Amino acid sequence: MEINISQGAIQQQDVDTIIVNMFEKTAPGGATAAVDEGMGGEISRLRELGDFTGEFNSLLTLYPGDAIPATRVIVVGLGKSEKFTAVRAMEAMGTAVKAADGLGARRIATIAFGAGAGRLSTAEAAEMTALGAKLALYRYDRFKTFGELVDKKVNVETLTLVEFESAKVAAVQVGAEAGEIVADSVALARDLQNTPAGHLTPEMLAEQAAAMCAAAGVDCQILGPDEMADLEMGALLGVAKGSVEKPRMIVMDYVPEGESQGTLVVCGKGVTFDTGGISLKPSLNMGDMKFDMSGAAATVGIVRAAARLKLPVRVVGIIPAVENMPDGRAMKPGDVLTAMNGKTIEVDNTDAEGRLVLADALCYAQKFEPDAIVDLATLTGAVIVALGNLATGMMGTDDDLKRRLQESGDHTGERVWEMPLWDEYGDAIKGKTADINNTGGRPAGTINGGMFLKHFVGDVPWCHLDIAGTAWNVKEKSYISPGGTGVGVRLITRLLREWGHGSGSG
Ligand code: BES
Ligand code: MN
Ligand code: ZN
Repeated sequence: MEINISQGAIQQQDVDTIIVNMFEKTAPGGATAAVDEGMGGEISRLRELGDFTGEFNSLLTLYPGDAIPATRVIVVGLGKSEKFTAVRAMEAMGTAVKAADGLGARRIATIAFGAGAGRLSTAEAAEMTALGAKLALYRYDRFKTFGELVDKKVNVETLTLVEFESAKVAAVQVGAEAGEIVADSVALARDLQNTPAGHLTPEMLAEQAAAMCAAAGVDCQILGPDEMADLEMGALLGVAKGSVEKPRMIVMDYVPEGESQGTLVVCGKGVTFDTGGISLKPSLNMGDMKFDMSGAAATVGIVRAAARLKLPVRVVGIIPAVENMPDGRAMKPGDVLTAMNGKTIEVDNTDAEGRLVLADALCYAQKFEPDAIVDLATLTGAVIVALGNLATGMMGTDDDLKRRLQESGDHTGERVWEMPLWDEYGDAIKGKTADINNTGGRPAGTINGGMFLKHFVGDVPWCHLDIAGTAWNVKEKSYISPGGTGVGVRLITRLLREWGHGSGSG
């Protein structure tokens, strides 16, 4: 789907479908009023009848005949104006575009959702509209040769964002472009997540990351087992031992052209498949463990978005990529590994592998002298017990960074919720034979993971995001299709875009 911008009156657009919106308990305004008038007040009539109330995500489809050029008009409800948010603009747009696509719409004209009564800036409204439309039409059909996903191709070819006021067209253009960049970066992350482990080994993940970097003008270095051995990355190498697939450390370095506002390292867990290793997982739902590289997928998407948006922040994406397998050479419970910073780790459970590979990646991150490190990892099943699928678990050492992530989560809808990293929690992971244990028992399982990672971040402000509950879809939404959600891309891209605003002082 291509997105165009056009200046003019929406009701006069020569398209097959027009999409407008309506708040609950509010008479149509702006573009919706213009379309309503063009159709002789049909929308107002249905509203007065109570047939269409504007309830959030509800739909009304009208066929205006000869009244206006378009064949169909879709009105989507924005819900109560006091509950309106940027995320709701995106979701409502997604709902409408999906409906239009289902009806066979090829050329759609719409407006920036939420710009008027919704109180979003014109650019942000345009961005949410583009984002919602593109994300809603995302699908993963690479391996389908027949069936619905093959038969029902995406119909929509163009989406034209129409702005009546010429003074606002430039802002619509800027917003729509940002929305497309973010949507394509989320789609890339979802594609990587959804790819089966047999088609995405650590080596192939590295190739995909390198391809993204080449296309986006980002420097990319890939370390193999020999370089890892030279750097003494014993924790990562310990996990890698159980697989015939060689590990990779992917380092993507986006450096802005002009002045930089700082350096952020984003570190993503890239376990391309997690069998549990010798501490083998049960078979039920083990296939979901192809998603254990969701942090890595987000990292690739985030670096892409930063580069394409030309953000004035240096972003280093680091991905420790391994497969966790039970082989004759695999590490065993009780084994002791030495991480890059010299700390020794007792492997109590080979299924707590994410923290092992991240340990060396976080040590390596220090080399870039970053202002902050954020890691994204499908680290613990326990975070699902604690927060379900509605929030990412957040733990960290820096209040300002936590506050910024919280704000970004609320704004993007990729919400985070904090869990504590009090010193006393450290007792659970004290090592018997080595410095630290890689597990801490069932209580506070997610925090144990955070406390473990804290040993490897030095003094750099750091936040750990446990995305095990949010990385793949449980409940579909208009802008979230089944499978990988791309969680983290919208969250961290916003964090980066806001980086220069109000740093430090809070
Ligand atoms: N990748 C898993 C975490 C996970 C589990 C993500 C279920 C999504 C759904 C991780 O490597 C793991 O196995 N964690 C263990 C840690 C335990 C052994 C301390 C867990 O959560 O059981
Ligand atoms: Mn595991
Ligand atoms: Zn794992």
